[in-house]
Amino acid sequence: MLHLTINGKAVEVPEGSTIMEAAEAAGVKVPSLCHMKNVHQYGSCRICVVEVEGMKNLQASCMVKAREGMKVKTHSPKVLAARKVLYELLLSNHPKDCLSCNRNQSCELQELGYELGVTESRFEGAMSKSRVDISPSITRDTSKCILCRRCVTACAQIQKVGAIQAQNRGFDTVISPAMGLPLNSTACAMCGQCTVVCPTGALQETDGLTPVWKALADPGKRVIVQVAPAVRAALGEEFGLPCGTPVTGKMATALHEIGFDDVFDTLFSADLTILEEGTELLSRLNAALTGGQATLPMITSCSPGWIKHVEHQFPGELDHLSTCKSPHTMMGAVVKTFYAEKTGTKPEDMFVVSVMPCTAKKYEIQRPEMEVDKIRDVDAVLTTRELARMIKKCGIDFVNLPEGEFDAPLGLGTGAADIFGVTGGVMEAALRTVYEVVTGTELPFEQLHVTPIVGLEQVKTASITIENTLPAYEHLKGVTVNIAVTSGLEGASMLMKEVADGTSPYHFIEVMGCPGGCINGGGQPRCTEENYREKRAKALYSEDERKVLRKSHENPDLMKLYGEWLGEPNGHLAHHLLHTHYVERGKYNQLVENEKK
Ligand code: FES
Repeated sequence: MLHLTINGKAVEVPEGSTIMEAAEAAGVKVPSLCHMKNVHQYGSCRICVVEVEGMKNLQASCMVKAREGMKVKTHSPKVLAARKVLYELLLSNHPKDCLSCNRNQSCELQELGYELGVTESRFEGAMSKSRVDISPSITRDTSKCILCRRCVTACAQIQKVGAIQAQNRGFDTVISPAMGLPLNSTACAMCGQCTVVCPTGALQETDGLTPVWKALADPGKRVIVQVAPAVRAALGEEFGLPCGTPVTGKMATALHEIGFDDVFDTLFSADLTILEEGTELLSRLNAALTGGQATLPMITSCSPGWIKHVEHQFPGELDHLSTCKSPHTMMGAVVKTFYAEKTGTKPEDMFVVSVMPCTAKKYEIQRPEMEVDKIRDVDAVLTTRELARMIKKCGIDFVNLPEGEFDAPLGLGTGAADIFGVTGGVMEAALRTVYEVVTGTELPFEQLHVTPIVGLEQVKTASITIENTLPAYEHLKGVTVNIAVTSGLEGASMLMKEVADGTSPYHFIEVMGCPGGCINGGGQPRCTEENYREKRAKALYSEDERKVLRKSHENPDLMKLYGEWLGEPNGHLAHHLLHTHYVERGKYNQLVENEKK
């Protein structure tokens, strides 16, 4: 242990700690802009400078290691004066459009200015070249970039995609894809993890609100909204509620108050996904065991960022992906066919909005495959952050809203669907249904959680031996099914390398594109609280546990949909509406080569 004093207060920290960590141990918060605890130490902004006795120059506390006997001042007049100058220099090369910037009041740069008492910059000089790149999911505005490189770390180190890097040098430095390519023509997965860590408005979700407001104002449109499971675990954070507070009922009330005509729950179509995907898995296993053609392992397809990543990086392995569309696009297809017929509404007069924790879903709805008979499944995707903005704009007192309900017939979901939002959840939901279908035996409540795949580890695995079966599944008796679960594109790529090599021991793999699953999606509120992912995951498990219906095939409204209209899972109509195919995309290097040509 090392002993030092921070602002005169004695503190003890483990060897290897930085001065910033020592300050934290002393209860002092040193301001920072580029630093991300345990994730990104780059030392580019210098806002965290402190005075160390015996050292002539101020030191960047996030980079410099604490030493025995150090005496540190974190907020001395010299430090505060230096921080102010550093801040003003940053400001001298930053647009002054805070009032119209989407990050207004949620911008780390703006907050820091307030904290430092800076009201203007004394410096005027050249401005960096501005470039606005609007991709379907992410909008980049280089004029707002402070070159902290958090986004580069999120993309290259956490997701292992590497779609953006620092290009050029000195004053011309810009964070961009190689050769200044637009994001949409690179191997970017559109996961939006870069938008979560960006401290300013340089990286944001692409606007989904404008078309939604327009549709709501159009009396000729029936505007239908649906909400993904993970949104309810995080939306409350935008209104000051503690991280991990489930706000399902308040959210349903708010959506009605905003003026949506129908408020449906993506939980319904998550249950639908389980019926479709579980049936597909059983068909593939059946075929493999009876000498037929089957591609195993089968891999889940709910996460569009993950799908885009496979299409770029493993284009030869697309047959491993389940053909199921993602739950919200399934909902869109059902709304514009079944519900349109039921309500006598023309599908072209319907406008379906999905509220998602995800930025990649904005890109997904624009894929040509996501339509039925030339009608788009979903018309707009809003992130959780955008829904919060909408609620605030309508002046709704969210915290004090009464608990509301989703609308019938597409608003009912089981507990199995709630856990779709967390890594391991889709697999667990699928196993709850597949087990009962194959064995004909009820799975007791206390055995619903598949413990080895619960938790936030990067890769989780389990093996399940099928002991008893119904006669129709006799050939599965004694078979051991190996499963794997991963979240984040680094873990997914590790598992895919085995698949591509032909060495994968698994039969079924669940992949979610963001670390921890959708609870940590690129469209979720920016949260710096300790263990925020665990808290959001707990919120979804608590939603599951409070329900009476906890298995997808127990959803009575879903079974009615099959009985009255859809027919069998994986049947002809189900295939037409709810399944899709994938396309081989060029690898990043090939794209760069093509661009050169
Ligand atoms: Fe230390 Fe940016 S926070 S240099």
